[in-house]
Amino acid sequence: IVIPTFAQSPDGFNYDESRISAYSLPDLFVSLQGQPISSIHQWEFTRRPEILRLFENEVYGQVPRDLDHIAFKLVSEDKKAVDGAAHLKEVDITVARNEREITIRLILFIPNHKETPAPVFLLITHRGHENIDPTRQQKSDFWPVEQLIANGYAAAAFHVSDVSDDHKDTFTEDLLERLYPEQLKMENGMRGLGAWAWGAMRMMDYFERDPDIDAKRAGVVGHSRGGKAALWTGVQDTRWAITVSNESGCGGAALSRRRFGETVKRINTNFPYWFTDNFNRYNDNEDALPVDQHMLVGLMAPRAVYVASASEDQWADPKGEFLSLKLGSRVHREIYGIPVDLPEKLPGVAQPVHLPYIGHHIREGKHNLTLYDWERFMDFADQLYAIKND
Ligand code: GCU
Repeated sequence: IVIPTFAQSPDGFNYDESRISAYSLPDLFVSLQGQPISSIHQWEFTRRPEILRLFENEVYGQVPRDLDHIAFKLVSEDKKAVDGAAHLKEVDITVARNEREITIRLILFIPNHKETPAPVFLLITHRGHENIDPTRQQKSDFWPVEQLIANGYAAAAFHVSDVSDDHKDTFTEDLLERLYPEQLKMENGMRGLGAWAWGAMRMMDYFERDPDIDAKRAGVVGHSRGGKAALWTGVQDTRWAITVSNESGCGGAALSRRRFGETVKRINTNFPYWFTDNFNRYNDNEDALPVDQHMLVGLMAPRAVYVASASEDQWADPKGEFLSLKLGSRVHREIYGIPVDLPEKLPGVAQPVHLPYIGHHIREGKHNLTLYDWERFMDFADQLYAIKND
């Protein structure tokens, strides 16, 4: 990305910290009725549901829960994959509603050297299929199966195109047209990101039924647009122990009100099929949003959240991503009493901060998901699962 100056971009995107206008964020701890929120009960029964509803109505759209049938079919397996280190299962997950169905392919490697059930990381990916090659003839650090296996983690992935094409003209294939067509008529209906999150939830449905997988130690990971979907998955579905956002930026971990790098208007213009229709109301109008992205982090509490950024990925606003994590994790601390206190200042490059339940790092380099990122996610999970086992 060429970094233009503000003057060169009248359409308005900003990379200059000093040009950020003052903003105030919605308060996590005051309900819509003006009630102060300080107990777990108030959080879980009043404030959390209302914030969740605001994100559904204004940002991502609903995630429908009703389905008639879900079936899992092992279509191929190799017990000696990855030079004998892993058991590969390719599973077709078929979901039916109103006599129509869609099928999503899960690619899953389970470590052989460890006793199962194994903890698992699921990657939601929109990148080329070569990144999730089940034969492992093509390997990529974007999904480093061999390293995950060596560290005792099962590696799982699905491609978003099985659920909803990552394209404005075809995103209604397959999920929206076939299973939930009524959503398309709703101003707060599910769109692309919501469909991908729905897909990740079906992967969890499978993990819960596979005795080789420890579904209670499952992390959902996404890069960039996949990271936005991962956050929305973790918020919707409390079965996930860890939610990992890698460089998810605008509409992901970054605070919208900072208007740094990508803005709401920009993302709604370039990707009109990701968010629900109502989100357009906030183009150039972020202050009117009843939520901001730190609240997504808050909705994850008391479960674990990891936010990763890259030093040269200003488009995704590393500082705005960190601020969301810092402000959102107040729910972990102030409601659940988990001792998470991130530093005041943005941590330096390659200086990961791994607190119990809250992880952060800024990798050196460009917008990407790399082995460095995955190694940090595994370190963080090792630490978290050790605490939880105590
Ligand atoms: C674009 C888009 C981002 C998105 C990214 C990606 O840059 O503007 O919002 O995160 O693509 O998915 O790589």
